[in-house]
Amino acid sequence: MAQTWTPNSWRQKPIQQVPDYPDLAVLDSVEARLAKYPPLVFAGEARRLKSALANVADGRGFLLQGGDCAESFAEHGADTIRDFFRAFLQMAVVLTFGAQQPVVKVGRIAGQFAKPRSSGVEKQGDVTLPSYRGDIINGIEFTEEARVPNPERQVMAYRQSAATLNLLRAFAMGGYANLENVHQWMLGFVKDSPQAERYRKLADRISETMDFMKAIGITAENHPSLRETDFFTSHEALLLGYEQALTRVDSTSGDWYATSGHMIWIGDRTRQPDHAHIEYCRGIKNPLGLKCGPSLTADGLLELIDILNPANEAGRLTLICRFGHDKVAEHLPRLIRAVEREGKKVVWSCDPMHGNTITLNNYKTRPFERILSEVESFFQIHRAEGSHPGGIHIEMTGNDVTECTGGARALSGDDLADRYHTHCDPRLNADQALELAFLLAERMKGGRDEKKMVVNG
Ligand code: PEP
Ligand code: CO
Repeated sequence: MAQTWTPNSWRQKPIQQVPDYPDLAVLDSVEARLAKYPPLVFAGEARRLKSALANVADGRGFLLQGGDCAESFAEHGADTIRDFFRAFLQMAVVLTFGAQQPVVKVGRIAGQFAKPRSSGVEKQGDVTLPSYRGDIINGIEFTEEARVPNPERQVMAYRQSAATLNLLRAFAMGGYANLENVHQWMLGFVKDSPQAERYRKLADRISETMDFMKAIGITAENHPSLRETDFFTSHEALLLGYEQALTRVDSTSGDWYATSGHMIWIGDRTRQPDHAHIEYCRGIKNPLGLKCGPSLTADGLLELIDILNPANEAGRLTLICRFGHDKVAEHLPRLIRAVEREGKKVVWSCDPMHGNTITLNNYKTRPFERILSEVESFFQIHRAEGSHPGGIHIEMTGNDVTECTGGARALSGDDLADRYHTHCDPRLNADQALELAFLLAERMKGGRDEKKMVVNG
């Protein structure tokens, strides 16, 4: 029998990745203050996302989840948010066309501030300091002072999340996300791409479809779905004191919800079944993500599924697989088989970023071709197993950074120094992200044609 859950029952469990706050009384007072602040998202919105994800779990949709590895206080600004949203929406349109299914849009944004670290300390020369753990915890500057965890940063992260969300809601509902706009941006990207020839075919078919819709009278003026979009937020629920402060009872259902974001996920380093992060997440009703890395066994996964989704509710749980391009074939099939055998309803998503990080010229980077290769294998494996490749989870920005190598502009190791701005892991820049969407859309279409041939042949 599961023990009683409360928003603070995680405090009785062992826990990983905890910051070493020097003054716990200050931490308590900040958490108490946050607990009185308004929720950032509403339970009804989280339920709407869950039902959209339930369709994905049933094979009738595709999840696009992406954004910064770590949001930062320094990069907070309208242009950064707008550029991200613009790149993200273009990806969504291309993928909608490729999948011929609704794309559920979930940003890693408006709350993605806390980072798990593989080492508690960072060494530079002879100096060893505590690791940077994300702007919600400490500062990235390599000084003793900056690296001390400061609870006041939680309030700053909350306020930045609120402001970011406010702008995103305006963009999503106020006409900026109009399909015609997104289509024009996408055509601009194709025109300027070194791979223009390759992408034009798909872009032309989208244009024709848009013209056809216009011709029969389907326009943004008479169809809200062409001028508005559903956009949701997500982040890793790592800093549990902050999460607890924003955990609220929904007055409609009487259930507990995390109101820090619509969807939250559990990282690959904090998914021990008897530990704090799983304890916290099991009690809230939001859609959850679970990062699945190479060390996760099939039995371990089934145990976690039973804890996190005992009612086997579709849309509740998204398995975000992050094995690496060279390991996905070894690990993914056994997990799919176990989950399918037990009839568990999940969304299968592919994070092709976190298993493909290498160091080049002293920069952490990710080769575009390995990212693409992991997603391709993910699709192929699902096709072979008869399961639905339900989504992708990527680290990206709308800016023209040089953090991942490769792509149509063939960024090399020597280019990394130009505009390497990430506060944590390397992100795809806007062009690379959109390129990934085009290449996947091509393959999704290829997969559908193949299926048709099997059915007809
Ligand atoms: C992340 O998504 O930024 C992350 C740290 O992922 P993982 O837990 O899969 O390593
Ligand atoms: Co990351």
